[in-house]
Amino acid sequence: MTSKASAPGKIILFGEHFVVHGTKAILGAINKRVTIISEKNKSQNISIKSSLGENSIPISESIENVDSMFKPFFFIAKKIINENNFSNGIDMDIQSDIPIGAGLGSSSACCVAAAASISNLFSELEKNQILNIAIEAERTIFPNTSGADCTVSVFGGIIGYQKDSGYKIIETNHEFDFIVVNSKKPHSTSIVVDRVNKFKSSNEKIFRDLCEEETRLIEKVTDSLQTFDLETIGKCMSQNQIFLEQLGVSNDQLLEIIKLIEKETFGAKITGAGDGGCIIALTNKNEKETVFEHMKTEHEAYSVTIDKTGMQVFNAN
Ligand code: MEV
Repeated sequence: MTSKASAPGKIILFGEHFVVHGTKAILGAINKRVTIISEKNKSQNISIKSSLGENSIPISESIENVDSMFKPFFFIAKKIINENNFSNGIDMDIQSDIPIGAGLGSSSACCVAAAASISNLFSELEKNQILNIAIEAERTIFPNTSGADCTVSVFGGIIGYQKDSGYKIIETNHEFDFIVVNSKKPHSTSIVVDRVNKFKSSNEKIFRDLCEEETRLIEKVTDSLQTFDLETIGKCMSQNQIFLEQLGVSNDQLLEIIKLIEKETFGAKITGAGDGGCIIALTNKNEKETVFEHMKTEHEAYSVTIDKTGMQVFNAN
């Protein structure tokens, strides 16, 4: 019997980094997904196969000894095997069209799809239960995660998210179009988040003021998202970018892309941890192809829309 589940990647429209410190963020799930097929096996191993490599790890292995690339998958499989008193292992096959390490939520989507696919081999879990397993798994590689990325991957759409109060769907019938440009500059979310922590410790007042400004920006833009006021949303994105620059997570290479794409769109900013990864720019249906063609000549670019479905679990068969 196999079990298949898929989960979308994400963009952060507003509030990355601040969200780790308790402020609200706005995220959107995107139409790029990871799909995981899992199956019970007859061995004592958890086997993981993806385009990045494969590994077969004894269930008895301690998580500390597992290569970080496989850690979240191993964690999820072992947890579910133990909770169900299952006496054998699990195989999983991962396929993804989310660029890896680019700030588009590839690892969170993997955690969500793996938790959904593997749990479904045993029983049907609530979305919140899958979310909790996914966040726990993500913490094996990124202990300080706010949980925002896994949350939007589970529920889809555009959400407001705050660590203490959870998520709320921002209801809108409009279709948003974004161009995503990959700077191809590698970054580590964990390292950038630690750097922002240090910034906060040595600039407490500046950080507090920035959190307050970000909160005001998010309050204002929530209305604009519902009324589809692209001009205002774009301006707010550019303002959010300035806050991120003040936190020290931008750099010349990212700014160069932002300046270029801003000329043709409503606004642009880093998405995710920054320091590298991707830039997002808000466009509209009529201009999206032209902007995409222009950006594609010099950069790796994607045209993305918001995925309203979130995680999907297909019947085990
Ligand atoms: C990473 O996609 C977003 C950050 O805010 C970290 C987090 O929320 O866990 C930088």
